Amino acid sequence: MADRELHRGLEGIAVAETRLSSIDGERGELVIGGFPVEGLATRATYEESVFLLLNDRLPTAAELDSFRTELAGYRTLSEEVEQVLRRAARENVDAMDALRMGVAAANLGVDATEPTEPTEAREYAKRLVSVIPTIVATYWRYRSGDAPVEPREDLGHAANYLYMLSGDEPDPAAVRGLETYLNTVVDHGLNASTFVARSITSSESDLVSAVTGAVGSLKGPLHGGAPGPVLEMLLTVYESGDPEGYLQETLDAGERLMGFGHRVYRTRDPRATVLSGAAERFYADAGDEAFFDFVEGFEARAVSRLAEHKPDRPLETNVEFYTAVLLYGVGIPRELFTATFAVSRVGGWVAHCLEQMADNRIVRPLSVYVGDRGRTWTPVDERE
Ligand code: CMC
Repeated sequence: MADRELHRGLEGIAVAETRLSSIDGERGELVIGGFPVEGLATRATYEESVFLLLNDRLPTAAELDSFRTELAGYRTLSEEVEQVLRRAARENVDAMDALRMGVAAANLGVDATEPTEPTEAREYAKRLVSVIPTIVATYWRYRSGDAPVEPREDLGHAANYLYMLSGDEPDPAAVRGLETYLNTVVDHGLNASTFVARSITSSESDLVSAVTGAVGSLKGPLHGGAPGPVLEMLLTVYESGDPEGYLQETLDAGERLMGFGHRVYRTRDPRATVLSGAAERFYADAGDEAFFDFVEGFEARAVSRLAEHKPDRPLETNVEFYTAVLLYGVGIPRELFTATFAVSRVGGWVAHCLEQMADNRIVRPLSVYVGDRGRTWTPVDERE
């Protein structure tokens, strides 16, 4: 066993076949359901992206209409889940912890079979996609001292999320910005949270457990937790007007620059390109080019400093950098950036779980034991 090759972080190991998305890290290309991300993200509604992942094709107009109606019908929370969220908000629990609690409780008060079989799981998948925005928005309303806003069935998925957060009719430019974001990050190969979801599914556990585990994985700053810190960084430097000082201090302190670097991409993350285009349009329409211009300037300086800092490792802009910029623009509170990532990524998680169910083998890698052997037992009162 000792001579077994160790793949730390499972780097370079393929463990599943998928039709959902494909990443070429050398060329900086991402394909989602057969479409280059650039061709899908700005055109699709989120409902179309999810339909695409669940059915491996785009819906017809009639299919889209009935899919939208079906999803909209699953938006309401049970009283039990609302109580969980009210309590979480009262105790100032972090948004991702509240989301984890809400998802874990998602089958309380719901008259549905436990989703362990592919057919039931398909139905439950739509329920989870629909209910996550309501969980996040309900938590946020309680957290802000406001009453939750009931979902509206006449609004699309993205518009309804914005509406539930603020209680106001959403601005079409903000809806388009958010929709572009949701489509861009809906799926991304076997990232950490998706692997967790597939791994839980592989033991023939259920979909709610898989998505609950995935939420826990997404929370960390090396995965979905980066955009909040990215925004803090940008606002700090925008105010101080000293990007070089900030970059020098951060890198000299051995800290990582949030929003840069990726396990798979050796180029700029193509999602960063899509989101920077969407953010540029959004800020131009809103008449706030100054902030966007600053962001672009900071990105260029950061990439060049990182190249000096780590000449052997390309450290380019990743998706989280422009996620922060775009979500800030469309009015998502920064405390909800990662939870909003989950609002999108749940579409990928459930589609991966269904793929795993259809062609399952339990996930069971190996570890390399580096501990002692042959120890002799000492009774507790004789130990030093
Ligand atoms: N700033 C400064 N140095 C960095 C950075 C960074 N953002 N990213 C990597 N490095 C350095 C790292 O310190 C290491 O140096 P050394 O070899 O001297 O220890 C070297 O580059 C390789 O890093 P690694 O940790 O082996 O790379 P990884 O592939 O395991 O990690 C990453 C990828 C995304 C976790 C990492 O680049 C990082 O921590 N970035 C900052 C956090 C961030 O932006 N997270 C969002 C990721 S994108 C969202 C998603 O797809 O989930």
